Amino acid sequence: MSESHWLEVEDYKSPEGWTQPEEGPSRARGYCAALERGEILFFRQPPFAFSQEDGDFLLSQHWAELRMHKNVSYRPGDDILRGVSGDAAATARIHSALRNYSTRVIEFLSKFLSPYADRWILDFASFRPFEEDGRDLPLHKRNDLLHLDAFPSRPTRGGRILRVFTNLNPAKPRVWQTTGPFESLARQFAEDAGLRRIAESDSPFKRTVQEWGRRMGIRGMGRTPYDVFMLRFHDFLKENSRFQAGCPKVQLEFPPLATWIVFTDGVAHAVMSGQYALEQTFLIPPGALVAPDRAPYRILENIAGRPLVH
Ligand SMILES: [Fe+2]
Repeated sequence: MSESHWLEVEDYKSPEGWTQPEEGPSRARGYCAALERGEILFFRQPPFAFSQEDGDFLLSQHWAELRMHKNVSYRPGDDILRGVSGDAAATARIHSALRNYSTRVIEFLSKFLSPYADRWILDFASFRPFEEDGRDLPLHKRNDLLHLDAFPSRPTRGGRILRVFTNLNPAKPRVWQTTGPFESLARQFAEDAGLRRIAESDSPFKRTVQEWGRRMGIRGMGRTPYDVFMLRFHDFLKENSRFQAGCPKVQLEFPPLATWIVFTDGVAHAVMSGQYALEQTFLIPPGALVAPDRAPYRILENIAGRPLVH
């Protein structure tokens, strides 16, 4: 385990917030910049009012008996819980636990990463109740292979995927592996993954079709060449057994109740083991980034020599 591969935050704590409030705005900007260059921000204790009661309830459920999808998900905008059905009282209690987590993380992040607040798009929160070690999932869905996140149903159009995780497990760490920075992965593999082909196949007709689909609200439409490439790159890295076996790896062990924040579209990650994590996702539009030159779409545009986002 190497703790130097995350940046431990010690100047923001729950419940008081910034330890030196007058420096809050400049610290917030500094942390946005750190995340954008690929750092993982680490808090030993949740930096928001975490409900231990909710946590205990989630841990006490017999998840194997509740009918479930890959994860339980919660959509903050519409207050909708998905991925679990069965006992109505238990479902309502799970719903309120995810609502509380989501609400508190959003409140926290609007102070801690204030340059992004009010500009982000709130995405899902999720609860991950299954042991990650030894999960039997199809290749492209495996969490234990290094990958960059890309959402088939929610193109970001150059925006970035920011995630806040909390390890709810009272006894076991959540174990990740990471590898080198986005730019070096892109320089090594973007060509083989089809960047040039995707960039060159962009056309006014395709744009019109995607834009039309987006306006109609069709799931997954509105993709730019960047979105098409990132979906392909996700699969390419998981399919590439030589890369998976041979790339340099750093192991990170997030202890019980640790909370961490990371742009998962820029930091390649694999979840090796761990059970019971909560998570809230934010989409940060390109215009809100403090260091847009570091954004994956800009790095890829430099490699491809043409725009990938429109
Ligand atoms: Fe992921």
